[in-house]
Amino acid sequence: MCGIVGYVGKKQADSILIEGLKKLEYRGYDSSGIAIHNLSGIKIIKTNGRIKNLEQRISEKRIEGCLGIAHTRWATHGKPSDENSHPHSNKSSTIAVVHNGIIENYMELKEKLKEQGYEFISETDTEVVAHLLDLHYKGNIVDALIGTIKELKGSYALGVLCKDEPDKLISVRKDSPLIIGIGKEGNFIASDIPAVLEHTKDLYLLSDNEIAIITEQNIEIIDINKNKVDKEIFKVTWDLVSAEKAGYEHFMLKEIEEQPKVVKDTLYQRLKPDSNKINLDEINLDKEVLDKINKIYMVACGTAYNVVVVGKYLIERLARIPVVAEVASEFRYRDPIIDSDTLVIVISQSGETADTLAALRLAKEHGARTIGIVNVVGSTIARECDDIFYTLAGPEIAVASTKAYSAQLIAMYLVSCYIAMQKGYISDEEFTMFRNSLLNISDNIKQILKDENKIKEISNKYKECSNVFYIGRGLDYAVAKEGSLKLKEITYIHSEAYEAGELKHGPIALIHDNTLVVGIATDENLFEKTMNNLKEVKARGAKILAITILGKEEIMDVADDVIYLPKTEWIFTSILANIPQQLIAYYMSVLLGHDVDKPRNLAKSVTVE
Ligand code: M6R
Repeated sequence: MCGIVGYVGKKQADSILIEGLKKLEYRGYDSSGIAIHNLSGIKIIKTNGRIKNLEQRISEKRIEGCLGIAHTRWATHGKPSDENSHPHSNKSSTIAVVHNGIIENYMELKEKLKEQGYEFISETDTEVVAHLLDLHYKGNIVDALIGTIKELKGSYALGVLCKDEPDKLISVRKDSPLIIGIGKEGNFIASDIPAVLEHTKDLYLLSDNEIAIITEQNIEIIDINKNKVDKEIFKVTWDLVSAEKAGYEHFMLKEIEEQPKVVKDTLYQRLKPDSNKINLDEINLDKEVLDKINKIYMVACGTAYNVVVVGKYLIERLARIPVVAEVASEFRYRDPIIDSDTLVIVISQSGETADTLAALRLAKEHGARTIGIVNVVGSTIARECDDIFYTLAGPEIAVASTKAYSAQLIAMYLVSCYIAMQKGYISDEEFTMFRNSLLNISDNIKQILKDENKIKEISNKYKECSNVFYIGRGLDYAVAKEGSLKLKEITYIHSEAYEAGELKHGPIALIHDNTLVVGIATDENLFEKTMNNLKEVKARGAKILAITILGKEEIMDVADDVIYLPKTEWIFTSILANIPQQLIAYYMSVLLGHDVDKPRNLAKSVTVE
């Protein structure tokens, strides 16, 4: 989604802002722009397309100035175009604004502003903010901003410049991410940490409707009633290297290969090799609490949703509590039955996904206990849920989530096992088996990654296919969902995931000569059943790529290609089965010549509905 960077300090702003925007490219965008205060006024340059187009325009007419805001736009209201790009300004160009989010009442505001003589030149919702700031400006830009946000409905992170206040960068957020960077030679605003990391690791995390008044020397934070807000400094613990490619051709491949470490880090913070307990001490899930809980909702979007599907299988199987796994965009509007005996677990890599955040807030409003499984420390979801389990995946830059998924699965296994232990459903012996298998997962993943060349060859063989079905049963189905999502995201090949037993109830009509079916068959108990389903599609001409465990060589009778996974307890194979799926999607995308890390139409952090 849109990216914002702002700077005020001693240095030339344009190059700092452009470099900051480049660090936010992963969020997804289709146009970009910059506004610089050059003491005589505010100069805006903006253009459709990639940041290099903007750089080209800036090199043609450089604007001197040490105060500026910049933006990458991911189109929501109006097509990607120069006019619709940000920054937007008032008619006299004395105020400029960049925005991330959606102003839900913009049509109503636009009509009102038009009646007062304001003219609009873009199709965006953001332009109303520029004109509202103009309407409310009576010599103090902070007052104008307060007056403006009182009229706005929806979500916003805003960066504002005012010609007549040449030392100030003003910012506010509601339901869209924004951080303040505290630098030595100036201060920053940004949508995400990588944009400022080259300059500072000290941040303020703004809460909803807190306003930051930023100058070169000072940062003042106030609330909407102009009361001073004291903020603690948030220290970033990772460095820029973690958010760079480190010699890999793509972030996605780097992140796939980081998984043995990510899995180990996430696991070891909670489960020590010699320990006979999982450490979730600060997450309040003791027996008394759990005995009251009669239902669990697990809510998320996209890849994180595919983790909650795994979670449903695990918790119901291990802890015998009914679980509803649900996509957040549905959950938030369907009036789900929630009360104080409900536990709601939300999962999010970014911790900023608008639908997941709304689902969390709904759950809290109804008195549910909430737990977040989140990757980004200090993100809004992490701050708002009752208890937090941080996955230790580090910054994930590729739009297609890989290492965050594996870390979330580890968290899911730990939480499920912990709940089952608290409820007395897991014996010491079972726990030992569970612990030992989990502690081996990192090495198991390393072993699978050694097969990368074989997986690349398989990807080459099937890269021209136009329809793919991913099928499996039980946990294998949950994994199949993620394989299918990854493939469509970065190869643009149409794919569907189905419960293997469901195929014959309709979808099998689509199987014909050379349709690719990826069959996940790692569950010993369901292996024969899935084999039968693979035979059914084989008989109708499908090509079959099977993912199974070592020892199940009989699958070669039906499959055209087989990827074997190292042996582990069946319940953990879902973590392993996904690794080849990620590599298949990655290599197919590379071989097809796509932009792997920045697939079309997608954004890394979906901060609007
Ligand atoms: O940051 P979140 O985990 O909340 O994001 C949820 C989805 O938007 C995300 O998983 C998306 O589906 C990814 N592109 C998947 O690769």
